[in-house]
Amino acid sequence: MKNTTISDLKIIQIDKIKEERGTLSVIEKDVVPFQLKRVYYLYDVPSDAYRGGHAHKELYQFLIPVSGSFDVILNDGYNTKTITLNKPDKGLLIVPGIWRELENFSSGSVCLVLASEVYDEDDYIRDFELFKTLKTT
Ligand code: TYD
Repeated sequence: MKNTTISDLKIIQIDKIKEERGTLSVIEKDVVPFQLKRVYYLYDVPSDAYRGGHAHKELYQFLIPVSGSFDVILNDGYNTKTITLNKPDKGLLIVPGIWRELENFSSGSVCLVLASEVYDEDDYIRDFELFKTLKTT
């Protein structure tokens, strides 16, 4: 498990082109520090639902609240931090080795995720006690 901490997490400003006709945001390859292999998105999330509840061994992810808002609760084995994502031009870079939970989704919110690898269940740690042991021993 990577020896990362919550100080390695980054809010990244996404360029935007604001016009009377509306706003366009663009993410080019140098905005995130990984090569994109997968995009997925969460939507129709009930307000009392809880997503995440895992860490990744190698995966980098960039989360963008393209609509609405939600909270991301992050834990590195020692410290925890909650970040509210609510601006479509501000995304959160989550490095490997960080436990994350997503909750408090606003009605109609959409979380877009850019990921550095294709889906691989073997990259997940879904047991928090195991995660803490791997990070702290
Ligand atoms: P999971 O990663 O646990 O979702 P979240 O972190 O948002 O709570 O994935 C939920 C289900 O979807 C799980 O059965 C795995 C599957 N899944 C894929 O098949 N491909 C993917 O790219 C992702 C992210 C999940």
